[in-house]
Amino acid sequence: MNLIFPENFWWGAATSGPQSEGRFGKEHANLFDYWYDIEPEVFYDQVGPNVASNFYNSFKEDIRLMKEIGLNSVRTSIQWTRLIDDFETASLNKANVDFYNQVIDEFIANGIRPVINLHHFDLPADLYHKYGGWENKHVGDLFVKFAQQCFRLFGDRVIDWFTFNEPMVIVEGEYLHQFHYPNLVDGKKAVQVAYNIQLASAKTIAAFKAINRNPNGKIGIILNLTPAYPASQSVEDLAASEFADLWLNRLFMDASALGAFPDALVERLKKDHVLWEATTEELAIIKNNTIDYLGVNFYHPHRVQAPAVSANSLAVDWLPEKYFDEYEMPGRRMNVDKGWEIYPKAVYDIALDIRDNYENLEWFISENGMGVSREERYLNEAGVIEDDYRIQFIQEHLYWLHKGIEEGSNCFGYHLWTPIDCWSWKNAYRNRYGFISNDIRNQKKTIKKSGHWFKGVADTDVLEMPESLAASLEE
Ligand code: BG6
Repeated sequence: MNLIFPENFWWGAATSGPQSEGRFGKEHANLFDYWYDIEPEVFYDQVGPNVASNFYNSFKEDIRLMKEIGLNSVRTSIQWTRLIDDFETASLNKANVDFYNQVIDEFIANGIRPVINLHHFDLPADLYHKYGGWENKHVGDLFVKFAQQCFRLFGDRVIDWFTFNEPMVIVEGEYLHQFHYPNLVDGKKAVQVAYNIQLASAKTIAAFKAINRNPNGKIGIILNLTPAYPASQSVEDLAASEFADLWLNRLFMDASALGAFPDALVERLKKDHVLWEATTEELAIIKNNTIDYLGVNFYHPHRVQAPAVSANSLAVDWLPEKYFDEYEMPGRRMNVDKGWEIYPKAVYDIALDIRDNYENLEWFISENGMGVSREERYLNEAGVIEDDYRIQFIQEHLYWLHKGIEEGSNCFGYHLWTPIDCWSWKNAYRNRYGFISNDIRNQKKTIKKSGHWFKGVADTDVLEMPESLAASLEE
């Protein structure tokens, strides 16, 4: 069966500055650069971000490969630690202004729409050491100064802007689950950090509107949405999934799209004495600076059950997980390499949720993907990785996305994580996600089978969906 996607659909892929560029020509360290410098053993195979996929040196050839596989839009991020010399004044690093100008021009010259994100887990380490990073609202104001520089410098050519990638991952990684430096476990700080990032995002949107170099320019945020499905219909499991959804999804979604945090969440945090410190003026800024459109990163759902220990008996410090536990659903389909459930139908649920609960906001899938380790297992004699599993993964997600669009959801694109295998936070090059492989011993880049396949979809706006696969999804 042929599934036809809307005209001008974004067919693309996403990466970020810190994960692709390497640290060449960069004055400052972000938190991950710093962490690698002090504790390289924390990173898979001790591979750090110093070289990444060498985009700083090879961006012309890399962009040419992206064009070759038919991408019409690509997201990357501008690194705060690269563009800016002095974070207080946001003075510019001239050489790196040139670098980003060249990158943007190169994308445009190749017919690829550059989609620019401003923060992808790359807080300057100095701002953590001096101010406590996102714990301090001043850092949000410094971020706005950096963003203003970006709008002024590149806003004539860049139409599509995003403030933050996955703010909830910053909150979880840095303050709850210990997978980002500084590895704290502190629920109260986590709540304040979530608020401070939302405030910084809204202030950035206000700054964007004030500068507005391009009448078509738009700005949004990128959220990792993880629908929280209850283990059963029991009152307890439903309550657990409701809280998980409020905390994991609706906190940033409601504040970014509707201009206010969900009442039920605010009430709960207040009752638990952990509500963020906010002023009336700040809440007005959030209210008045909502997003133009949304990027949704979707990898996996949450399966949620009531916590094994009752909420009241958890006497220690507050953590959001006092209200919900993860549930290992029997028979779930897994990406065993990454340890994430594969559940493509969630894309459809997200599509309808945005349609029904967020005024049918314009949105796109800004990341989706299949991380596979030891992908050289699938190399054929011609040296091409035959990643049929990735093609099927994309087909399945596009199938449900298409259904959501047919039912009226306002989705305008699909980006895979990632164009070229890139470095990842802590996991380095363990999980490969790209349309294009990268031999990190010599930086040789080769288009995978999925890259060739995707060109066919991107060129025609048509997904040829095997009948048997479609039927199996509807079961
Ligand atoms: C996404 C992030 O959540 O997951 C990316 O936005 C990241 O930056 C990707 O690289 C994959 O993560 P990992 O650790 O499996 O390589």
